[in-house]
Amino acid sequence: MKKILAAHDGSKASDKAVKSALELATQFKAALTVISVIPELYLTELVEMDRVRILDAMTADTKKTLARIRAKAEGVSPLKTIIKYGRPAEEILAEAVRMKADIIVAGSHGRHGAGKFFMGSVSSKLVDHAQCSVLVVK
Ligand SMILES: Nc1ncnc2c1ncn2[C@@H]1O[C@H](COP(=O)(O)OP(=O)(O)OP(=O)(O)O)[C@@H](O)[C@H]1O
Ligand SMILES: [Mg+2]
Repeated sequence: MKKILAAHDGSKASDKAVKSALELATQFKAALTVISVIPELYLTELVEMDRVRILDAMTADTKKTLARIRAKAEGVSPLKTIIKYGRPAEEILAEAVRMKADIIVAGSHGRHGAGKFFMGSVSSKLVDHAQCSVLVVK
């Protein structure tokens, strides 16, 4: 196992997933990339200015979170972080193919987690469609 892709959405569950991914990366001396996807805003009533403002705020927030993750990982494992925009599962899957990831690590639930289902819709799509293995962290 050489390349690990961990998905982070700002939730506690994804913190746990990144922690497990870091442990795996250390054990296997693998390269770890953490991806965070900022979802597209489909709200049609938003005027363009609001849309840009909200996306800017979300980007700033995500950058801070990823910087915090990099700081925590310092000295443990070399870690790359990336931000993408669009549909979370699709972007994560595309990145896994692009970087030829051996495994995707995600939380069982995320920010919206009602906990009603066994898994959230993003982790479920990753398990269904990934070409590589997927570790769903509980
Ligand atoms: N926008 C995102 N960017 C990166 N990873 C994400 C993103 N959304 C979800 N994930 C990954 O998928 C895991 C599961 O989240 P998911 O979104 O499937 O569950 P949820 O938020 O509880 O439910 P919902 O299906 O309502 O979104 C997260 O812990 C995280 O690892
Ligand atoms: Mg979600």
